[in-house]
Amino acid sequence: MDYKKLVTDALFKVLDGQITNEKIYQLLERPKSLDLGDYAFPAFPLAKILHKAPQIIATEIVAEIDQSHFQKIEAVGPYVNFFLDKSFFSADILRQVIEKEADFGNQNLGNGGNVPIDMSSPNIAKPISMGHLRSTVIGNSIAKMLQKVNYNPIKINHLGDWGTQFGKLIEAYKLWGSEEEVKADPINKLLEYYVRFHQEDIDHPELDEEARAWFKKLEDGDEEAIRLWQWFRAESLKSFMKIYDKLGIEFDSFNGEAFYNDKMDEVVEMLEKQHLLKESQGAQIVDLEEYNLNPALIKKTDGATLYITRDLAAAIYRKRTYDFVQSLYVVGNEQTNHFKQLKAVLKQMGKEWADDIHHIPFGLITQGGKKLSTRAGRVILLEEVLDDAVKLAEQQIAAKNPNLANKEEVANQVGVGAVIFHDLKNERMNNFDFDLEEVVRFEGETGPYVQYSHARATSILRKAGNPKFDITDTYQLSDNDSWEVVTKIASFPDVVKRAVQEYEPSVIAKYALHLAKAFNKYYAHTKILVEDEEILSRLALVKSVSIVLNESLRLLGVQAPKEM
Ligand code: ARG
Repeated sequence: MDYKKLVTDALFKVLDGQITNEKIYQLLERPKSLDLGDYAFPAFPLAKILHKAPQIIATEIVAEIDQSHFQKIEAVGPYVNFFLDKSFFSADILRQVIEKEADFGNQNLGNGGNVPIDMSSPNIAKPISMGHLRSTVIGNSIAKMLQKVNYNPIKINHLGDWGTQFGKLIEAYKLWGSEEEVKADPINKLLEYYVRFHQEDIDHPELDEEARAWFKKLEDGDEEAIRLWQWFRAESLKSFMKIYDKLGIEFDSFNGEAFYNDKMDEVVEMLEKQHLLKESQGAQIVDLEEYNLNPALIKKTDGATLYITRDLAAAIYRKRTYDFVQSLYVVGNEQTNHFKQLKAVLKQMGKEWADDIHHIPFGLITQGGKKLSTRAGRVILLEEVLDDAVKLAEQQIAAKNPNLANKEEVANQVGVGAVIFHDLKNERMNNFDFDLEEVVRFEGETGPYVQYSHARATSILRKAGNPKFDITDTYQLSDNDSWEVVTKIASFPDVVKRAVQEYEPSVIAKYALHLAKAFNKYYAHTKILVEDEEILSRLALVKSVSIVLNESLRLLGVQAPKEM
């Protein structure tokens, strides 16, 4: 229910012809305090038109306006203050939430249209980084939000499993590696070989030649090259899956870069046919001067393809396979240029749907305000972060609620949820600092705080014997504290819409924090479980809070334990 529109319509009826609906809507303000009403209309812009003092206009409006659905409407100086009929609207909203439950806030913006989301996409034979964590959790939340407004998201993990680096890795493994070592500790060992390769090729440039040859073999389907590559890939994937399991995130496709190996020739042919390929120092490029971009390098001198070549094939494949209405790429800020080039080349090829491709960039995670850097020793390993967060959550639960039945499970939900929430509450373009203690606190702007508020709501309901609500129930709540909670609940559908339109999970995270805060204030001021004629209404409010907090957390990919 759009209350602002309701006020606008009432005003429009008395001001008929003097001012447009849109203008009234624009002028309406939210007073700082509920004591001044829910909305205020300033009459001074009308003074010129009506040739009257604004104070007089305000009084006249109050005399003539239809007061139904308002508790009162009063003139205060040049303002008209509107107090909505709290009892009427609370009842209306609570009834809706209780009836729709988790479906509250669902809407149809997408008509079921397909939206592939390129997300997570770590590189084989390297540890999954905090940057990949951001892509994973932001992408996952966007997928859930899209689903809520009736799009069909398809989560694609575009694994970095192809490219010249695999030539280097195979060469390094052949020189220094062993099967047992890799089996014992795949990611670390593979990384070690790779790093060693980069140290040794400074003095031994012939290594680079060998590596190039291995990659060529790989691209040509050589049996040994393929076997090693497949093995490295499988080991890496195993360790990635462990992390995805911890995060509770699943994918619809693991078609990584290698998947497009046999689909690039067609792209290159298309570019040739359209005379878009130019030779530059032996390499094949597409000139993008028209777009103020550097040329896109499609094929190297030795014929090897590149990252962007595979992305071109992937974009075309996704259009064919999913006939998408939008195609999203949740990838760090630093690849902005790459995606501009990708879209520009597709545009050059006459693919109008390139406009439906959106890069969803995000900022960096820092530590002590500084960029993470392997060389400076500022590395954060995702798996350790998650484990440490769970440990901290365990300690807090042991202190607060030592008798909790399923302590371990809850500690997992809280620890992992805290890390995800911390990431998502920041606007995605902002860089943010990672401090584990801060992330897992039960108070303040944290995931555990929201989870705790939700658990408080469900425990009140439990104490009340989990009352059953019925659509014929009538609720009456008219105090300011409950009204603050009700208006927050009422705004949930609009919040979801804004979050989707801006591809911005932080909108939901901030909303959840505000709702939790309003609920805790209500809880501090109100005795809920007192047997009087409003108890059912109060419990309906608590129930609605638990539903909407649960749903907000779900949209972020965070679990909501019933007790903690
Ligand atoms: N593997 C890349 C990286 O770690 C990210 C891939 C993003 N997706 C894409 N279609 N380019 O930097």
